[in-house]
Amino acid sequence: MPGNVRIAHISDFHVGSPFFVPNLMNRVIAELNELEPELVVITGDVTNEGYRQEYKNVVAYLDRLRSPVAVVPGNHDARNVGYVHFEELIGPRHWSRDVRGVQVVGADSSEPDLDEGQIGRERYEWICEQFAAPADLKVFALHHHLLPVPGTGRERSTVMDAGDLLQVLLECGVNVVLAGHKHVPWVWRFETMYVANAGTASSLRLRGHTKPCYNVLEVEDDEVRIWRTFPFGGRTIMARFSAATGAQLGRSPEPAREHAAGPAHAEPSS
Ligand SMILES: [Fe+2]
Ligand SMILES: [Fe+2]
Repeated sequence: MPGNVRIAHISDFHVGSPFFVPNLMNRVIAELNELEPELVVITGDVTNEGYRQEYKNVVAYLDRLRSPVAVVPGNHDARNVGYVHFEELIGPRHWSRDVRGVQVVGADSSEPDLDEGQIGRERYEWICEQFAAPADLKVFALHHHLLPVPGTGRERSTVMDAGDLLQVLLECGVNVVLAGHKHVPWVWRFETMYVANAGTASSLRLRGHTKPCYNVLEVEDDEVRIWRTFPFGGRTIMARFSAATGAQLGRSPEPAREHAAGPAHAEPSS
């Protein structure tokens, strides 16, 4: 049985964008330092254009987080050969962490100068190797969304190999997928796996009436909870389920009605 583990999932800072709000970023850092999660997973788009100075500003923020941090790049981070700065200043683009029995694996889904992305079949074997050992919970992190997210307009940039990747992750026994990119928080249950999208933590690149937010994954014995948390106040439960079986406990993921059905608009990419 898993012990008690908290993993914060924050995404899409877009440092360098005119829509980036330092006050939101500062608040998220303060809240996470109070929460003290065992790991902070960041699912990409930490910069807006992949420029070195943007990365340096990101590092200055991340250095203030007291919890360990693991980051995968997003499509914006891979612009302008930004993946070079990512590897130099942030860390490897693919990684694996054991967080007190919770295995967390991150993979880069970005492609240079493309908004679309993929994990790619050459990476599947590595992913399965990382999840080969028994774990209390298996978590996979990537930037691009693996399943369409409601309230995000025209569907256009799930990972290009979404079908194959879903199959691989299920075969590896993955329980939770963490993703970003669309800036809209949502959780889908897919067979025994929960696919959780985080909103943008610190920018106003928002669709419809969504608000900046981040997710927190709580593992308490066999129970897993995914919370949507708003900087400066409030959180709502998005999913609550058994780690062992994937069965929903009590309340199913709530429909984010306030986020639904906004017309396709505005953002050329996420
Ligand atoms: Fe993105
Ligand atoms: Fe984004």
